[in-house]
Amino acid sequence: MMKLVDPYGRTIDYLRISITDRCNLDCLYCAPLGGRKRRSHAEILSYEEILRITNAAVHSGISKIRITGGEPLQRKGMVRLCRMLADIDGIESLAMTSNGILLKEFAAPLFEAGVRRVNISLDTLKPERFRNITGKDLLSQVFEGIEAAEKVGMNPIKINTVVMRGINDDEIEDLAGLTLEKPYHVRFIELMPTQGYTKEKHRALFVPISEMIHRINMIENLQLIDKDPSFGPATLYSFPGAPGKVGFIAPLSRHFCETCNRLRLTADGKLRACLFSEKEIDIKGFLRKGASMQALSDLIKHAARSKPQQHHLNDIAPKIPSNRTMRAIGG
Ligand code: 5AD
Repeated sequence: MMKLVDPYGRTIDYLRISITDRCNLDCLYCAPLGGRKRRSHAEILSYEEILRITNAAVHSGISKIRITGGEPLQRKGMVRLCRMLADIDGIESLAMTSNGILLKEFAAPLFEAGVRRVNISLDTLKPERFRNITGKDLLSQVFEGIEAAEKVGMNPIKINTVVMRGINDDEIEDLAGLTLEKPYHVRFIELMPTQGYTKEKHRALFVPISEMIHRINMIENLQLIDKDPSFGPATLYSFPGAPGKVGFIAPLSRHFCETCNRLRLTADGKLRACLFSEKEIDIKGFLRKGASMQALSDLIKHAARSKPQQHHLNDIAPKIPSNRTMRAIGG
């Protein structure tokens, strides 16, 4: 299989595919301005188109796929898509990111289709707070979804928590405590300034990783685990004897651009080489004009080679990308 290396020496082998920009939740950070622009079905890539692009991507050097959204479990027929993706020769890993609400129903069919790993977004353990953060009173469904995923054998189960000051930063210890009983990776993520944040609003909510680590009183007991590619950008620790792991992801305070291995495909068919760059390549337009497999593959290589060396969110005057919400990029 060919290896795709960008001008900065990074191997690009990971494609995140957003299959819908719709979501059954309305999280604070995903659409901070409220409101949403719903794309019509014709704008969204069909499953056949996603398969064609994925085949071209595998041909270019991609071997790991993650299905995201919006909320991917909401799109009709997505189990069928996952099965077809898992069957592509050259795909080593097929994972999904979900909010977990529909996971109770879909964990078993997804596992059977070849999705063996799932990341679930969960920012609080308190029902009332869950409603404030997401707009829906559905925390118990998320727990049921996580348990269903564990039961069918998804492994590892990663829980993603975006930490926000004054909103859920008092729950870091309780969330980390889940790992004492469950084999989950609970990963705390620094809030990124996505569309809709002003610098001031972001600054008010932002909690750096260093502070999060401080807040886990048992931190002296946390043992650093040697880095493994399967950890993604997270630094992982574990409590002695605990079945789970506690992770920290610092896109801002310790950005990991130098090891970034990913490309993104948006639900409306744009290739995006960096979450924080507004530059996109219209692969859907190309595809719908009848581009050959070779031409698609060349375009994907071009996207990888145009990846910026790093984002500039730590700079004095950061430019917050404003062309899309997180839901429209793919979380
Ligand atoms: N900052 C940090 N993480 C975010 N996510 C979405 N928006 C943001 C943001 N502004 C995370 C969610 C979800 C994943 C897909 O992306 O936690 O788990």
